[in-house]
Amino acid sequence: MSKNRIPAAATMNAVICRRYGPPEVLQLAKVPKPSPKPDEVCVRIHASAVTASDIFIRSALVLPRLQVPFRLMMGITKPRHPVVGLVFSGVVDEVGEKTSRFKPGDEVYGMTGFRLGAYAEYRCMRETDSPWHGCLALKPESLTHEESTAAAYGGLLALQYVEKGNIQTGDNILIYGASGTSGTIAVQYAKHLGAIVTGVCSTKNIGLVRSLDADQVIDYTRTDAPPEGERYDFVLDSVGGLKTSKLKRACTEALTPQGSYVSIDDGNLQLSSERMARLRELIEAGTITAILGRTYSLGDIVEAHRFVEGGHKVGGVAVTIPHAED
Ligand SMILES: NC(=O)c1ccc[n+]([C@@H]2O[C@H](COP(=O)([O-])OP(=O)(O)OC[C@H]3O[C@@H](n4cnc5c(N)ncnc54)[C@H](OP(=O)(O)O)[C@@H]3O)[C@@H](O)[C@H]2O)c1
Repeated sequence: MSKNRIPAAATMNAVICRRYGPPEVLQLAKVPKPSPKPDEVCVRIHASAVTASDIFIRSALVLPRLQVPFRLMMGITKPRHPVVGLVFSGVVDEVGEKTSRFKPGDEVYGMTGFRLGAYAEYRCMRETDSPWHGCLALKPESLTHEESTAAAYGGLLALQYVEKGNIQTGDNILIYGASGTSGTIAVQYAKHLGAIVTGVCSTKNIGLVRSLDADQVIDYTRTDAPPEGERYDFVLDSVGGLKTSKLKRACTEALTPQGSYVSIDDGNLQLSSERMARLRELIEAGTITAILGRTYSLGDIVEAHRFVEGGHKVGGVAVTIPHAED
């Protein structure tokens, strides 16, 4: 071997997306393994997730009013950052010299922000929160890495949007889409805040939503309006603008005079490590359970995206990331 030969750069397995399109645009690939900059920690990812956001990013099928800002932000004809994936749970592998919050071996969960990169064996993260660089926090010890991905995405959405309701003890509230990743956590968090909670879901998920301690459950496939005379202090649409029913439209009119209606699509999801730390405490205290509907392996990412695109997942869908040395 020549003395001057440069050692081959370390690589890792990842899922890349070279153009917007159907699930089949996702490909397994070898990409360079990242090394942390001085202000970064490198996370060895054990699980990622397929979320509603991953589907929007891969397909670019977003609400018409969001098309231009979406493409400016994410890339005009393809994701600017080809390794996709937003949510992860793993273990801190290396830390940069200017970091202080985490040490090697810490179990963490987080979201990557607009630079994506969670469908990979490793992802370097800053310790500070930002829409571009994401957020990172210690993971709930009682959860598996797969469950933690459902907690991260569903929990960040649920806490932020339930808090918009300024819930007071005894408030009558309705969570539309109570069986999804955010809806399952929104129901539990609203109960924790002292609300009387009605959850809306389809027939097959009634048992699940009852098990989350919802006081009432309405089946949107069989009922077109809330019970006669029922009024809500707060209605949260936790499935977003692309999914609707006659019942959802009727709920917008079933508010008390001071009541408010909030859609999970109003404004931007805040990537907040403070909220993730609070979520961890709620999970450790047994107040909130993360619901995980299915788990896929990284090699089945296309199938996982096809399933989630169907729009009827229950809780979260995780993707296990294997490591060659495991
Ligand atoms: N503001 C932001 O920055 C931001 C960021 C990320 C995501 N979001 C929004 O958050 C939304 C929620 O994401 P998520 O992952 O929590 O949802 P989700 O898990 O994808 O929702 C799945 C659930 O929706 C239910 N569902 C499907 N069609 C429905 C309908 N017509 N009426 C009522 N329920 C229906 C399904 O129940 P059944 O199978 O029983 O029908 C399923 O359990 C996303 O779609 C996106 O719009 C917003």
